[in-house]
Amino acid sequence: MVVAAGRGERAGLGENKVLHRYGGVSVLSRTLRALQKSALFDGCVLVLAARDRDACEAVFRQEGICPLVRAIAEGGQTRQASVFNGLKALPEDCEIVAIHDAARPFVSEDILARSIELARQTGSGVACAPVVDTVKQVGEDGGVKTLDRSCLRAAQTPQTFRRAEIVRAAQEAEKNGWSATDDADLYERCWGRVTLFTAPDSPANIKLTTREDFMRGESAFRVGTGFDAHRLVEGRKLVLCGVEVPCARGLDGHSDADVAVHALMDAMLGALGLGDIGRHFPDSDEAFRGVSSMLLLAQVMRMMEERGWRVANADVTIVAQRPKLAPYIGTMRANIAEALGVAEDCANVKATTTERMGYEGREEGISAQAVVLLAKGCA
Ligand code: CTP
Ligand code: MG
Repeated sequence: MVVAAGRGERAGLGENKVLHRYGGVSVLSRTLRALQKSALFDGCVLVLAARDRDACEAVFRQEGICPLVRAIAEGGQTRQASVFNGLKALPEDCEIVAIHDAARPFVSEDILARSIELARQTGSGVACAPVVDTVKQVGEDGGVKTLDRSCLRAAQTPQTFRRAEIVRAAQEAEKNGWSATDDADLYERCWGRVTLFTAPDSPANIKLTTREDFMRGESAFRVGTGFDAHRLVEGRKLVLCGVEVPCARGLDGHSDADVAVHALMDAMLGALGLGDIGRHFPDSDEAFRGVSSMLLLAQVMRMMEERGWRVANADVTIVAQRPKLAPYIGTMRANIAEALGVAEDCANVKATTTERMGYEGREEGISAQAVVLLAKGCA
């Protein structure tokens, strides 16, 4: 039985976390595939909330439905209620049932096999991980007790049982109003004894719970490129990388037309998969008239940080026949490094001419290109 009927609130992904794609494939499909690959099961009851039916069907249409799935049971308000519904949907001839969280896609064949074997022998086989942190118990009066770590286990799934016995335990729970966050607790209350085990790969059998758990599955780096060009006109200031460069003409545009910062922002938005600056700062919006592009860059930085990324390095090339930019490059670079929150050697600004070729060479305009590498917040 795979329970997938939660809301995934702690992950805060705006959808049930198990339908979310982790490294390109939904967590649920990954979990079902792991069970199928083990070839240890005759079938699977999937427990799903009614609100997720359509989204789940869409996922299966794309990724293919796992042939192991024999029935879909309705989720309940709590995990315990979901499991109870799932137990009722098991076929009568099912002897052993492994109850597994859809949110644990990394379960190994070894853990599944041990769990089943122990359930056959003893009635239950509950996957656990050794506790790696020292655990403190805090009393109501603020008193702290340090628990002996060697006696502690963190309960995982699969939790496998003789079907008749776990069904009985679930019925007793229903009757007596017991509530528990895992199935082993109910089993123990009913039968007095539960079998736990740890395996070498228990630490990898994590339950995807928080946003950080999901970020670990994404690549550690992202790259983006940006390009922009503006026309040189009379009566405008020339602003490049936030530096006002003395010049008879300046770049035309809705904002301050800082072509270099525009290319840089486009590179960042590209790396984040967020489109381009036109989408976020449309020139139809009066709020952006004459605005300093450095302020817009600060907004792009916030979008990046909210998603858990930081700039590893950036490289900007300004293509201009004139004016000569060399005297200003140092200040430009310092500006960009500060805005991006990186050391100066991680923010490079360079300028080149085109030897009088093309629109930059004819001094009709200035263009800029940027490449940026983003790293995961902690990388
Ligand atoms: N689950 C379920 N029915 C519920 C609650 C949870 O089937 N009413 C499932 C989840 O889908 C998940 C597993 O139980 O696969 C473990 O629960 P948990 O990690 O707590 O998931 P959620 O309840 O979805 O997450 P959260 O507690 O953060 O909202
Ligand atoms: Mg929960």
